[in-house]
Amino acid sequence: MAYNLLKGKRGIIFGALNDASIAWKVAERASEEGAQIVLTNTPVACRMGTIDELAKKTNATIIPADATSVDDLEKLFVQAQEVMGGKIDFVLHSVAMSVNMRKKRTYDDLDYGFLNKTLDISAISFHKMIQTAKKLDAINENGSILALSYVAAQRTFFGYNDMADAKSLLESIARSFGYIYGREKGVRVNTISQSPTFTTAGGGIKGFDGLYDFSDRMSPLGNASADECADYCVVMFSDLTKKVTMQNLYHDGGFSSMGMSLRGMTQYEKSFIDENRDENGKIIYG
Ligand SMILES: NC(=O)c1ccc[n+]([C@@H]2O[C@H](COP(=O)([O-])OP(=O)(O)OC[C@H]3O[C@@H](n4cnc5c(N)ncnc54)[C@H](O)[C@@H]3O)[C@@H](O)[C@H]2O)c1
Repeated sequence: MAYNLLKGKRGIIFGALNDASIAWKVAERASEEGAQIVLTNTPVACRMGTIDELAKKTNATIIPADATSVDDLEKLFVQAQEVMGGKIDFVLHSVAMSVNMRKKRTYDDLDYGFLNKTLDISAISFHKMIQTAKKLDAINENGSILALSYVAAQRTFFGYNDMADAKSLLESIARSFGYIYGREKGVRVNTISQSPTFTTAGGGIKGFDGLYDFSDRMSPLGNASADECADYCVVMFSDLTKKVTMQNLYHDGGFSSMGMSLRGMTQYEKSFIDENRDENGKIIYG
């Protein structure tokens, strides 16, 4: 159902690679809510992915840009304003990549060149994007800038590797820039910390199936889907959240406040084989 929440607004959406991408769902929902949008991704992803299909569906223009290149970002913000006929109201940063994860380098055997790439693509690009937009004065007052994060910024998750450090930095950038951009231009900067979601980036995480199931069992409302994340992004882009800034907003079905759930405990207990139990079936600890 559409509520016209973004009627008359102009947005830039980074990171739609295929129809599983969270950014893809956000683009669809933003368009349904009346926004005009520009889609962007790396030149390679624009050529190889299926972003053309999304552009057709949402009546969007595609402007390729590597989110780590300030030159590309400058061109993107200038062209996006020309194409859409005015300043930008919202931006979604839905960009992440870890070469260490791809090459199966564990956290105690990181390649530091790869680590720099992870941080640049997944976090510093957020700073570059905001700084470029601010220098060009490309965002309207009450504008809203969002990035997608994960709870591994606060807590340690097996297999999340150097992406955890990237997410901590990403959330810190949202606070630091949120203060300056809010004070000077009334622009909001927030991160949404999303549940594990089956996407290309999600699938790169070691043991993702187990993580997804664990997270679902631990969350009273279950994992949040990409479509539900898109709904939350739309609300954050809308005028209904004008005074929300510098926040990391959990969109995770309650996971981040849980310690142990009944569903989690039930599954955990099933994992004990007979040898771990006494004659009454009780677990022998230790
Ligand atoms: N999938 C999950 O479980 C999950 C959970 C929480 C947060 N997130 C975050 O959501 C965001 C989107 O990821 P997704 O899960 O939709 O996966 P995805 O693979 O569909 O999206 C990642 C995007 O990053 C783009 N990208 C990579 N390098 C880039 C660069 N240099 N410049 C511009 N774009 C670049 C890719 O082309 C791709 O479109 C990421 O920040 C991810 O960490 C994902």
